[in-house]
Amino acid sequence: MRVLFTGGSGKAGKHVVAYLAAAGHKVLNVDRVPLGHPGVHDLITDITDAGQMYSAMCSHAGFDEMETGKGAQVFDAVVHFAAIPRLLMVPDAETYRVNVIGTYNVIEAAVKMGVRKIIIASSETTYGVCFSDGVVDPKVLPLEEDYDIDPMDSYGMSKKVNEVTARSFQRRSDADIYALRIGNVIEPHEYATVFPAAAANPGLRRRITFSYIDARDLGQIVDLCLKKDGLGFQVFNAVNDTNSVPQPNADLLATYFPKVPLSRPVAPHESLLSNRKIREVLGFREQHNWRRYVPGPRA
Ligand SMILES: NC(=O)c1ccc[n+]([C@@H]2O[C@H](COP(=O)([O-])OP(=O)(O)OC[C@H]3O[C@@H](n4cnc5c(N)ncnc54)[C@H](O)[C@@H]3O)[C@@H](O)[C@H]2O)c1
Repeated sequence: MRVLFTGGSGKAGKHVVAYLAAAGHKVLNVDRVPLGHPGVHDLITDITDAGQMYSAMCSHAGFDEMETGKGAQVFDAVVHFAAIPRLLMVPDAETYRVNVIGTYNVIEAAVKMGVRKIIIASSETTYGVCFSDGVVDPKVLPLEEDYDIDPMDSYGMSKKVNEVTARSFQRRSDADIYALRIGNVIEPHEYATVFPAAAANPGLRRRITFSYIDARDLGQIVDLCLKKDGLGFQVFNAVNDTNSVPQPNADLLATYFPKVPLSRPVAPHESLLSNRKIREVLGFREQHNWRRYVPGPRA
C-alpha cells in the first residue's frame, strides 16, 4: 500500500515505518524533522498547518513516483503518529493545540482527499490514570476498550478528543478509522534499563498499569490494521500480552490496586491494559515479549 505516515521520525514511528517498509509498503514520512530511512521519502511538514497537510496529502511519495507521469495519487492509507507525545514537554495548552488541531487537519485532509483507511495514535493515558494529579485508581480492571475514558490532563484530553474527531469523520466518510490506545513504547535498547528497574520496583509502572508495547510489535499491529478492512470506527488497545514486571497479577492487584474491582478473572501475567481485542479481531501475535531480552526474574 501507499502509506502517508505522520511522525515517522519519532521514537515509535521510526520502528513502525521500518516495519511497514520491510513489509513492502511504500511509505511517505511527514514530520517536522527527517527520518532518513532507506526507501522512505521525508516530507518536512507541520501538521498544525491545514494548508501544508492538504498539500502533503496529495503528494508523490518520492522522486521515483514522478517517473510514472501520472501525477500524485491518493494514498491508500494514512497512519498518524505525529504529536507532542506526553505531558510536561511543552506547556499544557500547546500540547492540546498541536495534538487536537494537528489530528483534525490530518483526518480532514485524508477524508476529503478520499483516503479509505486511517490509523491514529491514541494513548493509554485516555484511561485517566497515567497523567492524573495524585494516585488514582481505574474504575475497573483490566482496562478494555469499552471503558468510560476520563483523563484529567491536557495530553490525555487531547487524545480523547482525537478519538471523538476520528469517530465523527468516520460517520461522515464511511472510511475505516482505527484509533490505537498505545501503551508505553519500548525500543530494543531500552530492555536493558527499563525492565530491571521495574522488576526491582514495580510501583514505577503502576500509572501505566504495568503494561508496555515493543516498538516492533507496534509495527505489526499497524500493519494488521492496514490489512483489516470494513470495521468502520474502532478503538484498539495496543500493548504486548503480559505485564512488564515479573510479579504476578495477584500480587500487583493486592499491592497497588486493592480497591479496584475486576470485570473478569485475569491470567497470572496477562496485561492489565488488555490486548484481547487486537488478538481476537486483528490476529496479533506478539514477537517481542520482554522475557526474551531481560536476564533475571521472569516468572
Ligand atoms: N512513546 C510512548 O510511550 C507513547 C505511548 C502512547 C501513545 N504514544 C503516541 O504515539 C505517537 C508517537 O509517539 P513517540 O513516542 O514516537 O513521540 P515522538 O515525540 O518521539 O515522535 C513524534 C514525532 O512527531 C513529530 N511532530 C511533532 N509535532 C509535529 C508537527 N506539528 N508537525 C509534524 N510533525 C510533528 C516530531 O517531530 C516527532 O518526530 C504519538 O502520537 C504519541 O502521543 C506514544
